[in-house]
Amino acid sequence: MKILFLGDIVGRPARDYLKDLLPDLRKSLSLDAIIANAENVAGGSGITPDTARELFNCGIDVITSGDHIFKKSEVKEVLEKMDVLRPLNYGPLAAGKGWLVKEISAGGKIAVINLQGRVFMQPIDCPFKAVRDILEDVRLETKIIVVDVHAEATSEKLALGFFLSGKVSAVFGTHTHIPTADERIIDDFTAYITDAGMTGSFDSILGREKHKIIEKYITNMPVHFDLAGRDVRAQGVIVEIEETTGRALSIKRVEYRQDDK
Ligand SMILES: [Fe+2]
Ligand SMILES: [Fe+2]
Repeated sequence: MKILFLGDIVGRPARDYLKDLLPDLRKSLSLDAIIANAENVAGGSGITPDTARELFNCGIDVITSGDHIFKKSEVKEVLEKMDVLRPLNYGPLAAGKGWLVKEISAGGKIAVINLQGRVFMQPIDCPFKAVRDILEDVRLETKIIVVDVHAEATSEKLALGFFLSGKVSAVFGTHTHIPTADERIIDDFTAYITDAGMTGSFDSILGREKHKIIEKYITNMPVHFDLAGRDVRAQGVIVEIEETTGRALSIKRVEYRQDDK
């Protein structure tokens, strides 16, 4: 089974590019599933029913998220009715779900789990305990398990990668919007990368207009962060997973550029 995972999708420029990119890519690479983090898809922060639908319509199967998930009030509908996750360790009282199982078109089932880190982030439940408590239930459904760890600290993401090695097919980091060059297969079983990167403008700072961010750093004053739209790229990884065992066979970093089209 071949899966494409995309890092944080930022705003309309990214959505417009994915509409062009994904249908062809799915066919040409024979992708079985596409998973993407879309916590920044609506105006750069949060997700709405319309923006989620746009992503599903271009071929994304499951959407993960992170600390921006509750930024838009319409998010409840998204979390209740669509294959969109919020981090599992927000706890049982938060709206939405932290994992799901999806039947994919090629047959077979894939489980997706969304976790969020706690280092340099808001205080929430322990991601290690949260995922440990559900793993047995998830494994009853399918052996193909993909985890998005949305976290700031590289060490926390790597710790979760090793914690989950041999138990899940893949652990992908998100949130920093900057890809790391450490993709590997841990213990000959679990595909891992500390950060998958970003889908959005690269003439920007994390998808936002760079001069606005610089102004914020210089003045310490509140600044409205406009979205940037130049040099749009889609970054992520492609993993191949053995369906009978759930073992990852390969992981490869990818980057697609709108300007190349
Ligand atoms: Fe993000
Ligand atoms: Fe984030």
